[in-house]
Amino acid sequence: PAVTPRFRPAIHFTASDTWLNDPNGLVFHDGLYHLFFQNNPYGNVWGNMSWGHATSPDLLHWAEHPVAIAGDEVEDIFSGSVVVDHGNTSGFGTVESPALVAVYTSAFKAASPHSGTQAQSLAYSTDGGMTWLKYDENPVLTRNSAHFRDPKVFRYEGPHGSCWVMVAVEAQHQKVVLYRSEDLKSWDFLSDFGPANADAGEWECPDLFPLAVDGDPDNTKWVLIVNVNPGAVAGGSGGQYFVGEFDGVRFVPDAGSLAAPAGLSSFPDKDAAQAALQQCLWLDWGRDCYASVSFSNVPDNRRIIIGWMNNWDYANQLPTAPWRSSMTLARELRLSSVNGSLQLIQHPVLTEQRVEENPVPGPAPFNLDGTALRLPDAVPGTAQVIEAEIVLGSAELVEFSLLGSTDGSQRTVLGYSTRSGRLTLDRRQSGNTQFHGKFASVEAAPAALEDGILKLLIVVDQCSVEVFAQDGKVVLTDLVFPEANSLNNWLSAEGGTATVRKLAISSIA
Ligand code: FRU
Repeated sequence: PAVTPRFRPAIHFTASDTWLNDPNGLVFHDGLYHLFFQNNPYGNVWGNMSWGHATSPDLLHWAEHPVAIAGDEVEDIFSGSVVVDHGNTSGFGTVESPALVAVYTSAFKAASPHSGTQAQSLAYSTDGGMTWLKYDENPVLTRNSAHFRDPKVFRYEGPHGSCWVMVAVEAQHQKVVLYRSEDLKSWDFLSDFGPANADAGEWECPDLFPLAVDGDPDNTKWVLIVNVNPGAVAGGSGGQYFVGEFDGVRFVPDAGSLAAPAGLSSFPDKDAAQAALQQCLWLDWGRDCYASVSFSNVPDNRRIIIGWMNNWDYANQLPTAPWRSSMTLARELRLSSVNGSLQLIQHPVLTEQRVEENPVPGPAPFNLDGTALRLPDAVPGTAQVIEAEIVLGSAELVEFSLLGSTDGSQRTVLGYSTRSGRLTLDRRQSGNTQFHGKFASVEAAPAALEDGILKLLIVVDQCSVEVFAQDGKVVLTDLVFPEANSLNNWLSAEGGTATVRKLAISSIA
């Protein structure tokens, strides 16, 4: 049988033998999800930036294709997006057979007349995304800035007609900049937004899209995602978002979205800034979810994001070979009112038929007290999905111990404490944490019990733990690098009795 290289995930995308970072150009077209990505075609650390390419019918299993848009001696190809030009506004395709148009950042090198600047450029495909041509009049939008990048383009349908809208960043000014266009080639400035909330690092990879509140098509709000590096809630890179209104010109956040209207760096007091950082809206409270952006052109108004499952703090040092780095699972978004303000709810896309394991110790409900309960082991080469609903009762702490060694010295611990009201993910003993000084860590996210119940959906896939708590209101993602035989899973309660009312464990290959 083929030897699976250590840590290669079963249902998370990795490039076969090269480096990747941000997801780019996420688009659904002709029955396939396309994932382009920041790629070094010649190595497994960041460099030679190009757009790699993969496709999937189900968002779980990916086929990698040749490099789609290659960097060269004049430009690196940085992050951006892809739209299907249904109206053939660009003239690159036809109305019958629309072109896919990539809007990417040209990071110009010394050999270019635009040397030292980052500007927005186009490439297009008339064969469904498999081969790409750069537009011969690139770049199409420049600000003579060295840090203007990561364009996300979408079709805006307003009361007075429709047009293309681009959100991009002035990364070092913590600003999202908005532009509009009729043809994707000529762009007019609309407005800017920021700094606000988390602004300690560069702002990167923004996204702006409408979402129906609680699925009500007559009540739509706009979500602005702004990735920030460093200065995210778990340290280093992470994704924050704002909920508000967009009128075709300006994004205006709701008051409930603004923990720091002028940005946390405006706080004179460090403790107050730290407290406000916790109040910002975060896509993920773990260390390893960055550069999340959404797919365009998905039917039924579904909004699905993918993030890069990594953190710039240690990204280039992850202990894997020949590949390095993977994407998060695809996550479908909904918008709902939580404690009086609108928040995103995320569900991993796990459509595939799963193989259920036998329940332990028998069908729920059952009580958990002082004795830890052994759960089915993780199986190399497959992803394990653990779904649990636990009534905390008199227990003060419930813990899942994941990917543990038989002697118990190595494990990743997901815990919920009723005292702190927090969910914690502790990877300090998870295995190889030594490869970088910033890797060993424990993260915490506030999570309120609902009717005394903790609901968890945990996906463990070789080197990652993704936790969706309270029906997707709180998400935590961490990488881990355990020994090959650290496969034991346990569930325990401390300080009293908890009742497990649902426990389902399954695997996906
Ligand atoms: C985010 C980022 C983007 C940039 C790309 C370069 O991780 O820094 O801002 O376009 O990576 O690879």
